[in-house]
Amino acid sequence: MRQSACLYPGSFDPVTLGHLDIITRAAGIFERVVVGVLVNAEKNGAFPMEERVAMLKKAAADLPQVEVLPFSGLTVDLCRQLDIRVLVRGLRGPGDLESEMRMAKVNGLLLPGLETVFLPSAGGMEALSSSLVREIASLGGDISALVPRSVLPDILSHYK
Ligand code: PNS
Repeated sequence: MRQSACLYPGSFDPVTLGHLDIITRAAGIFERVVVGVLVNAEKNGAFPMEERVAMLKKAAADLPQVEVLPFSGLTVDLCRQLDIRVLVRGLRGPGDLESEMRMAKVNGLLLPGLETVFLPSAGGMEALSSSLVREIASLGGDISALVPRSVLPDILSHYK
């Protein structure tokens, strides 16, 4: 069956320009894009869940077809709950490939019919990661080329 909705799951701790690029491109393909923000029961994120969700909402404010939802548990369970059968993940390069392929295959075994669509990172975004953003921001570096402009003040105030 053709699909009009996708789920883009992740930690988004915090959202980067790389994430926003994937969200924007997914919104150009699907009528509905749900961004699922993982509440990790084992480790607390650097940014509280509410802040991660609020930053994503701000970053995607211009994209009406994008929803941001916190979730815990399995990604496939959220797919079942939302009746979504397509996952979107960004691929920054070969370093991401092995673990992403494994996750896509296992998710497909857990929920037959679930497809994972990989979007290659746009030029210049391959090097971005939330962990680098956190490290640079915590050391007082300039992260303005790495994160959406709308969330820059939130990230800076977190490290003040
Ligand atoms: O942004 P991340 O940290 O690369 O995202 C990883 C994420 C959240 C997509 C992945 O860890 C996940 O799906 N976690 C939920 C638990 C789950 O479904 N685990 C089985 C994966 S095969």
